[in-house]
Amino acid sequence: MTSPLALFGGTPAITAPAPHFTWPPLTSDTADAVLAQLQAGISIYDRSGVIAELEDALCGYHRVRHAVLTSSGTAALHSVYVACGIGPGDEVIVPAYTFYATATPLLHLGAIPVLADCDDTGNLDPADVKLRITARTVAVMVTHMWGLPADMDTLREITAAHDLLLLEDASHAAGASITGRKAGTFGDAAAFSLNGPKPLSGGEGGFVLTDDDEIFYQVLLHGHYNKRCRNEIPASHDLYPYTVTGMGLKFRIHPLAAAVALSQLTCLDEYLQGRRGIATRIREALNGLPGIIVSDVPDGVAHSWYGLILRYQPDQLGGLPVERFYDALKAEGCLELDRPGSTCPLNLHPLFQAPTPLFPHRADMPTYAPGQFPKAEAFHRNALKLPVWHREVDIPLVGAYTRAFTKVTSRYRDLTG
Ligand SMILES: Cc1ncc(COP(=O)(O)O)c(C=O)c1O
Repeated sequence: MTSPLALFGGTPAITAPAPHFTWPPLTSDTADAVLAQLQAGISIYDRSGVIAELEDALCGYHRVRHAVLTSSGTAALHSVYVACGIGPGDEVIVPAYTFYATATPLLHLGAIPVLADCDDTGNLDPADVKLRITARTVAVMVTHMWGLPADMDTLREITAAHDLLLLEDASHAAGASITGRKAGTFGDAAAFSLNGPKPLSGGEGGFVLTDDDEIFYQVLLHGHYNKRCRNEIPASHDLYPYTVTGMGLKFRIHPLAAAVALSQLTCLDEYLQGRRGIATRIREALNGLPGIIVSDVPDGVAHSWYGLILRYQPDQLGGLPVERFYDALKAEGCLELDRPGSTCPLNLHPLFQAPTPLFPHRADMPTYAPGQFPKAEAFHRNALKLPVWHREVDIPLVGAYTRAFTKVTSRYRDLTG
């Protein structure tokens, strides 16, 4: 490798034109499904047509009794919290390291998000969860970060011992599993996002999964109304009189988004199978390079590879700052390499440091500050995210990205001098 670093005018290691990665894969099947839906109807008031087909398919895929589609993952999370009866003064333990919507519905409900640190994988650390339980704790919400399922056995032991609800934000982890059991089926209820780059995508949208009839009825009443609620909540139920209005909010998914998601779901396992093969290649190629740690995937765990996180180790590259390492890789043409921004420890967001200008009635909110979640903050600071391709035709890009990493790590002294 003779060329100087591209940052200093050398030839970039990657010359393939952008974009190097797009998601979801939009095949002619997806396009046909959207066109067919356009003709079948673009507003669906009840559980019929593509809504029923997709909810049935989600139930079958996850082996759960109820799936309710929503307009977004944020809406799904909001409905889960409401449906579980979480309200003013209730404490919910949530990961410090997650996308903020895992926790923000709690601010609207008068509940208190109690942040807990992550472990070396970036997922919620059960040991830290235990330390945060108080007499006011009612639930633990866990995110399967970047598609790696969290330690659900241990979390379930903890929540069972303390009689707490266990909830999942499985937005990154559609199709991921632990010994064959799918992410989103370990707790009392789970929320998923179907937003653009998610492993299962409808462009926009979300859904809730639960086996619990009462949670299901409440999810319906929270974001749906009239026909859906009247048809699906038994006339004998105490809440049946509210079925015309529900709680007055509307969180329905667009039928065209449902058509996209249904078409994607039929290919999800095939796509993830492809991703797993390519993730193995990337991990084998980068493992052992100085300056980065490529995490292991535990036995029995199937990752969805929403992102492949490389943990940067500056001490192995003469203290080279992560920003400089990242800039050098970008200059080499690693266009899809990312340092996640909005998905970051929640204590770094103004919303969690000083919520009252936006939530004036929430003087009871704990205020968070930088430095409180050292593991989450270090994980985030040093996280470099690669996409994981699913097609064999993309394998040359893996080779090109590997060459870029090898070049920069072998010439790191040029960056530190
Ligand atoms: C972990 C997680 N939860 C929730 C959401 C919110 O989903 P949506 O954008 O569909 O509202 C996201 C979106 O990026 C996410 O990454």
